[in-house]
Amino acid sequence: MRLTSLLFVPADSEKKFEKAKGVGADGLILDLEDSVAPPNKAAARETLCGWIDANKGPRDWSFWVRVNPLDTGMTAEDLKAVVRPGLDGIVLPKSNGGQDVATISAMIDPLEAQAGMSAGHIKIVVVATETAAAMFNLGSYAPAHPRLVALTWGAEDLGAVVGATSNKEADGSWTQPYQLARSLCLFAAANAGVQALDTLYADFRNPEGLEASCRVSRRDGFVGRLAIHPDQVAGIRRAFAPSEADVALARRIVAAFDGNPGLGTIGLDGKMYDIPHLKQARRTLASAG
Ligand code: COA
Ligand code: MG
Repeated sequence: MRLTSLLFVPADSEKKFEKAKGVGADGLILDLEDSVAPPNKAAARETLCGWIDANKGPRDWSFWVRVNPLDTGMTAEDLKAVVRPGLDGIVLPKSNGGQDVATISAMIDPLEAQAGMSAGHIKIVVVATETAAAMFNLGSYAPAHPRLVALTWGAEDLGAVVGATSNKEADGSWTQPYQLARSLCLFAAANAGVQALDTLYADFRNPEGLEASCRVSRRDGFVGRLAIHPDQVAGIRRAFAPSEADVALARRIVAAFDGNPGLGTIGLDGKMYDIPHLKQARRTLASAG
């Protein structure tokens, strides 16, 4: 399941939802967590159910709901409402580790069966760095639960946990604690064999900044990114797609190894390539489709 661009859509705006369907995102995340005030949760659940029911037919985007975190006591109600045909996945915020994936998955199991959905259809994306405890449990997502497809990370909630007054340097880059969270999310995803998705880029009126930042994400190994505004989706898709030059080089590397099956190292254009480069070249070709 490709998750290069996942767009957050507030559950309180049908207009935004209708617009979001046509912007080319791989998935839409409807939010029941922090963008919905507690007195409005029940109404938001009802709204989302209507949207899920109205969009069960074939479509080129997947349907996600960000539920309330497990320690709020609201997750069960959220799941009871939204686990129904048409839903593709749950985004679990403030996850504390692999145990939380097992817990929420066990909550989904009977609801999925009651809804007549195939077992395991509902996938899970975890926001893996939003609590202090989470930071010490990033290794626990492996071996990955069969429902787990991606890890992403968040800087805002983690900042509030430690009492940070800012999470950005003057030049806009992440301060040290959030670089650590971002890097550990990347390694945790690789360790679990699931997709690593970089966190959102809040400055939604800065398309150049977003694309430059996404190129850094891709360079580092992330395969996608969260979006908060429709205008961000095209830039994210562009930045995460390998360039023609990347694809051409990857083809040559793969061809050189295929043509020399006994070799573990080859030279091309005066540069050495070995097995990690071959793996990366294959990954580039796979992501180019
Ligand atoms: N999904 C779908 N449509 C959206 C959208 C979103 N996330 N964000 C904006 N739009 C729509 C607007 O409704 C507007 O539509 P229109 O042209 O038909 O009037 C258009 O895109 C342009 O919006 P714009 O005026 O540039 O932004 P805004 O000031 O209306 O909204 C935000 C700014 C940040 C409030 C809005 O982008 C948003 O709600 N983002 C998601 C926030 C969220 O879900 N956060 C929780 C996770 S962190
Ligand atoms: Mg949050």
